[in-house]
Amino acid sequence: MRKNIVAGNWKMNTTLPEGLKLAEEVNAAVAEAKPKCDVVICVPFTHLASIAAIIDQNNLGLGAENCADHAKGAYTGEVAADMVASTGATYVILGHSERRQYYREDSAVLREKLALALANGLTPIFCVGEVLEERENGTFNDVVKLQLEEALFDLPVADFTKIIIAYEPVWAIGTGKTATPEQAEDMHAHIRAAIAAKYGEEVADNTSILYGGSCKPSNAAELFAKPDIDGGLIGGAALKCADFMGIVNAF
Ligand code: PGA
Repeated sequence: MRKNIVAGNWKMNTTLPEGLKLAEEVNAAVAEAKPKCDVVICVPFTHLASIAAIIDQNNLGLGAENCADHAKGAYTGEVAADMVASTGATYVILGHSERRQYYREDSAVLREKLALALANGLTPIFCVGEVLEERENGTFNDVVKLQLEEALFDLPVADFTKIIIAYEPVWAIGTGKTATPEQAEDMHAHIRAAIAAKYGEEVADNTSILYGGSCKPSNAAELFAKPDIDGGLIGGAALKCADFMGIVNAF
C-alpha cells in the first residue's frame, strides 16, 4: 500500500547555521515522536551535505528542491542530479510552481530533470497544480491532467512507481488560503483516476499523492483524513520545528 508522507520544502530560507539548527531539531523531534508517516526535509543545495551528516535518514529523509536538466558540463550555477545524490540526499522536488513560474520550467525541461533524478536513484516529488484563473474558469482538472500527461505518462511503469506526486494549487501556496479538504480530495481522486487509466488501478493505489498549499497544524488532520490525500508538502510551516511536527503528528 502507498505511504503517508510529510515533506518540508524550505525554499530559499535559512543560512547554513540556521538550517543545521532546524534540521537537528526536526531530527530529534522525529526520533522522539515515532510518526505514523515518512518524514522528509527538502533544503537548499548548500545545506545538503552538512545536514546529511547530522540526521538519521532512517527516520528523516533528505531532499533537494531542484536539480539540473543536464547531466554535467558547462551550465554555470546549476546542480546536477548526481551531485545531489552524492551528498547523501535521496529525494528531489521537481516541477514546483515557483520553478515553473519564475524560471520558466516547462514539461520538456521537467522530463529531462525527472530522467536524471531517476537515473541517479533520487525519488522525485513531482508537483502539479493550477493557478487561480484556472480554478475560477473551471479548467483546473484538465490543466493538472495535462501536466501529468506531458511530464510523467511517457515513463515506463517501473519509473513511474518511484515518483511521489504533490498537488499544490498555486493560489494556495504561501497565501494562507488552503484548498478545502473537499476541493483537495476531488483533485487527488481525479489525479488517481488519471494514473489508473494510464497505468492501472494497482499502480494508482500505490502512488502517494501529497497536498501542498498553506497546510498547517490546524488544517492538516482534516486534509489527511481524506481517502486520496496521503500527506503534505509543507512550505512556510516547515520552517518551525513545532509547526512542522504539528503537521507530521496529524497522522
Ligand atoms: P506553503 O508552500 O506551505 O508555504 O503554502 C507549499 C509549497 O510551496 O510547497
